[in-house]
Amino acid sequence: MTIRELTSGDRNRAVEVINTAAEWYREFLPPEEIHSPEMDEAAWEAERRRMTWWGAFIDGELAGVIGSEPAGQAVLLRHAYILPRHQRRGVASALVEHIEERLQQQPDARRLVVGTYAANYKARGHLEKSGFRLAEDPETALRTYYDIPEGRLRASVVYEKPLSRPSGEGKPPAGR
Ligand SMILES: CC(C)(COP(=O)(O)OP(=O)(O)OC[C@H]1O[C@@H](n2cnc3c(N)ncnc32)[C@H](O)[C@@H]1OP(=O)(O)O)[C@@H](O)C(=O)NCCC(=O)NCCS
Repeated sequence: MTIRELTSGDRNRAVEVINTAAEWYREFLPPEEIHSPEMDEAAWEAERRRMTWWGAFIDGELAGVIGSEPAGQAVLLRHAYILPRHQRRGVASALVEHIEERLQQQPDARRLVVGTYAANYKARGHLEKSGFRLAEDPETALRTYYDIPEGRLRASVVYEKPLSRPSGEGKPPAGR
């Protein structure tokens, strides 16, 4: 597997991956919350202007994508979509690890934040396996980081993961 930043040249394939993987939402979301397509090329480009798209390639084929967006001391992970035939083989986890490694160079970035539907057990399983934990105050996190309608807020959970820092940086002061 190779991982690299995606460019406009990858847009067409990336949007196909997203819309194929997003079919999964039909299994647990009510019909009124399904977008068809989940994302079009214009929306993908608009997202590219505010965040970085990453892609995982297997045998030269784009197998999955994810976006990382800086938000103060947090970095939001957004739009994780892995083609169904490549799921459950660690592709999403490898993308997260790649972003974590890149963020080692950015001391301002303190933690990764991901919002997802409470019912999305695939995403929750992947996040927990990757070392994320549920945020203690999901409502504040959702209101701070996402432009989210009330109904969706109530149906969502937030996961966080502190970013490890080399040699003690970022550790809390010793207690008494
Ligand atoms: C969620 C998603 C990105 C995970 O990608 P992935 O590459 O399969 O995840 P990983 O292989 O890194 O992690 C595997 C873990 O995820 C969970 N998981 C993934 N697919 C699962 C499935 N079909 N059933 C149950 N758990 C699943 C499990 O905890 C699994 O660990 P296990 O195999 O030891 O049980 C992928 O399922 C996907 O694209 N889903 C559709 C879009 C989506 O829901 N995106 C999330 C937006 S936040």
